[in-house]
Amino acid sequence: MIMVLPDDPKYALRKVDEIREMVDNDLGFQQAPLTCSRAKTLLFISNDKKVAGCLIAEHIQWGYRVIEEKIPEVGSENDKVIFERQKAWCCSTSPEPALCGISRIWVFSLMRRKKIASRMLECLRSNFIYGSYLSKEEIAFSDPTPDGKLFATQYCGTSQFLVYNFLSGQQPA
Ligand code: ACO
Repeated sequence: MIMVLPDDPKYALRKVDEIREMVDNDLGFQQAPLTCSRAKTLLFISNDKKVAGCLIAEHIQWGYRVIEEKIPEVGSENDKVIFERQKAWCCSTSPEPALCGISRIWVFSLMRRKKIASRMLECLRSNFIYGSYLSKEEIAFSDPTPDGKLFATQYCGTSQFLVYNFLSGQQPA
């Protein structure tokens, strides 16, 4: 795993920009542009020396808790899985303090479901703030995709994890 920090040499930051563009392409440009240049990037390098995973994290102050939407009781198990994947998420309007925003998290398609994203998050939690280990409660996810939502629900152990970066930004009125 490689961590690229804002003060790293230009060539490293340029490489990270390239990778971010590729990730944004894959995400369909749904993610908000990075709000600050203090972002920290984690790259997961595969055995054949390719970038198999990328996590971009930024400092934030607030997150908003996802509000659980009831899954309709009717329908088959398969219908429920489809509903779970497709439903839009809603979140609370009251801000809760948070420290670390996951701006983007991405794993190469053929290497998904091998805990690469989980390992990148563990690594981030020990390295985001020097000398401290972030709790899951201090992390928020930027406008999650269906995959992102399923991953965050499993990783945080709750579907009511924190989100940020939607509509008008993260500052409370
Ligand atoms: N469907 C259902 N459950 C999932 C999924 C999924 N697609 N992905 C992860 N999970 C859950 C599972 O419970 C999984 O454990 P299991 O495989 O033992 O069942 C657990 O989360 C841990 O998953 P990892 O293997 O650590 O996750 P992975 O390395 O596959 O990466 C990621 C997850 C990054 C979301 C990947 O699917 C991906 O790159 N998707 C495309 C890009 C994307 O949508 N990224 C999220 C954008 S939101 C944001 O960036 C803030």
